[in-house]
Amino acid sequence: MPGEPEDAGAVDFSAVFGRVAPVEMEIGVGKGSFLLAAAVAQGHRNWFGLEIEPEYAEIVRLRAARAGLSNLRVERLDGKEFVMRRLSPGCLAGLHVYFPDPWPKKRHHKRRLVDTAWAEAAARALAPGCVLRVASDHEEYFALIDEVLSSEPLLEKLRPEEAGDWSTGSSYELKFKKTGRPIYKAVFRRRASGSGS
Ligand SMILES: C[S@@+](CC[C@H](N)C(=O)[O-])C[C@H]1O[C@@H](n2cnc3c(N)ncnc32)[C@H](O)[C@@H]1O
Repeated sequence: MPGEPEDAGAVDFSAVFGRVAPVEMEIGVGKGSFLLAAAVAQGHRNWFGLEIEPEYAEIVRLRAARAGLSNLRVERLDGKEFVMRRLSPGCLAGLHVYFPDPWPKKRHHKRRLVDTAWAEAAARALAPGCVLRVASDHEEYFALIDEVLSSEPLLEKLRPEEAGDWSTGSSYELKFKKTGRPIYKAVFRRRASGSGS
């Protein structure tokens, strides 16, 4: 896995972790606050993070090693390409995208993580019944994410009462909560039917 290109073929997560367990993935882990806490709280699951900035990927690796976490891996890879090319159908038990870079300038919109093709690939990678959680402080990008994911036939948006009151626990969420900045969140469940897998 380390050093592999994004198009190296479907990942065998049981080989990556050295055990068979449900795999949850986070894209854009930053310094890893969400992923590390999740790996501690849910040791029976494997937690796989992607981070495009090498220094952040290294920080999270060091923090995981210090905490003795064998159920957490982080790779310095692009989450867009990875989801489109490296995931076999139904391989994920959860997907987390917290505060993805909004790329506010119009000419940079193509760099954004979430678009229609990514949404379809992400939905196929989720096992039926499992969820994709997204959060952002950027109203316009969140509205687009919400629209794209709501339009994906393999996904079903949970109503607020189904999704419950949840927090990512990520560094960005904590930072924005302190300043009172609005945070937008949504949860999408992979439909059981029309799996296409
Ligand atoms: C705004 S930060 C949020 C970090 C963390 N999720 C949080 O909520 O605290 C976005 C992170 O996503 C990473 N990132 C941006 N584009 C990415 C991509 N295509 N694949 C993987 N990581 C990416 C950035 O390097 C950065 O660490």
